[in-house]
Amino acid sequence: MALTTNLSAQLASRIESRVAHVAVVGAGYVGLGAAVQSARAGFSVTAIDLNPERVAKIEAGESYIGDIASLELQQLVSAGRLRATTDYAPLREADVVLICVPTPLTRNRVPDLTWLRSAIAQVAQHLHPGQLVALESTTYPGTTEEEVLPALSARGLKVGEDFFLVFSPERIDPGNGTFHAGNLVRVLGPVTEACREVGTAFYAAISAGVKVVSSPRTAELAKLFENLYRAVNIALVNEIAILCDRMHMDVWEVIDASASKPFGIQVFWPGPGVGGHCIPLDPAYLKWKAMEYDLPLRFVSLAEEINGYMPDFVVQKLTRLLNTRHLPLRGARVLVVGVAYKRDVADVREAPALRIIRLLLEAGAHVTYHDPLVPILSLDEPPTVMESAPLATERLQALDAALVVTDHTAVDYAWIVQHVPLLLDTRAVTARQGICAPHVYRL
Ligand SMILES: NC(=O)c1ccc[n+]([C@@H]2O[C@H](COP(=O)([O-])OP(=O)(O)OC[C@H]3O[C@@H](n4cnc5c(N)ncnc54)[C@H](O)[C@@H]3O)[C@@H](O)[C@H]2O)c1
Repeated sequence: MALTTNLSAQLASRIESRVAHVAVVGAGYVGLGAAVQSARAGFSVTAIDLNPERVAKIEAGESYIGDIASLELQQLVSAGRLRATTDYAPLREADVVLICVPTPLTRNRVPDLTWLRSAIAQVAQHLHPGQLVALESTTYPGTTEEEVLPALSARGLKVGEDFFLVFSPERIDPGNGTFHAGNLVRVLGPVTEACREVGTAFYAAISAGVKVVSSPRTAELAKLFENLYRAVNIALVNEIAILCDRMHMDVWEVIDASASKPFGIQVFWPGPGVGGHCIPLDPAYLKWKAMEYDLPLRFVSLAEEINGYMPDFVVQKLTRLLNTRHLPLRGARVLVVGVAYKRDVADVREAPALRIIRLLLEAGAHVTYHDPLVPILSLDEPPTVMESAPLATERLQALDAALVVTDHTAVDYAWIVQHVPLLLDTRAVTARQGICAPHVYRL
């Protein structure tokens, strides 16, 4: 017991005095952010990633994540506070290890823990007494205790005595200029009391505060609930959008009116579907786990069904609009404006634009796209590589329709509207900018 107190107190003190070394496994959107945040807080940090290109970019001070400035990366790297490698050896010297690897779904939409298990195996191999391991990847309730803990305990080290284990979900919202890792409170689910002490010391150092819960499972479920809440509410407004389309009503006006009530409603807006590494995937992790308890999560299925249908709805609506002009979709020249999954990010993972382009191509349309943040787009089906088309007057005039799928700030929508014969705006960006014309339609 004396040793326990000693190890956790020593580690907490190393954290508080910033002597502690932090290793981040997986340097993507979340991991590079965590590495920068830790380095900013005064720790020396090593980012470990399988991808040598990402490692080389970090070492060159070149950011590949929109919310992280290359200048800051350069400063941290040249000050020796942040380095990157493909080698796991630095785990041996690390006091704190953050696991930030992807948690995708298989083709059949069940949790794919391949990346997580390989990361855990590496962490387990290098685990030493006095180390804090924090899982940050989004996952189903039970993962920390059912997957991570047994692997880390396999060689005899005891959690809460020799090493410390917590789950602390990352809550960042890429492209959000108001909220970022530095001003968000962290949820922390510790395995033991000593894990709580050490985990709190670390996350208090890199965030705006720590909300401690009773177990890793609680923190895992809290994170999934946050994202399911979004998925369900987005599905709700999307279904109202489909209803409004049938009733020839303006869904945006309806929601805007509802939003004037100061209580009892939080506003979500409809759109062409959901994308990114979180909202389309995370609820499926919960649905899968709930089946172990004989509970089919109907809200998850409903949200998946409605949000997953939106790209098809958008293509159907565009087809109807073209038909009113005696044009079939087959052979129509369509420009997709914005392919990233949301405004002002470069991420196309799970983006609705991917399915929309696929449906347009399958219908025989001639598709081009413009996205200032996504110069090249690869589609799996049909296997296609496309380049973002520069916007030019003649090119716009030669189109049959433009389809706004992502409302990036850097696009001149008024100019597009001026030159295209038909525009379907799935984000209502034209209305927000006061652009109104008879050939502009909204979702
Ligand atoms: N992207 C977001 O906005 C966001 C927000 C909150 C939470 N999350 C969650 O965070 C986790 C990571 O997501 P992301 O968007 O940062 O993923 P990402 O794909 O951007 O980055 C993951 C990185 O991990 C690396 N990697 C994979 N396996 C590895 C291993 N065994 N060892 C070392 N490196 C490895 C990959 O090469 C990649 O660079 C996921 O669970 C995700 O659900 C993501």
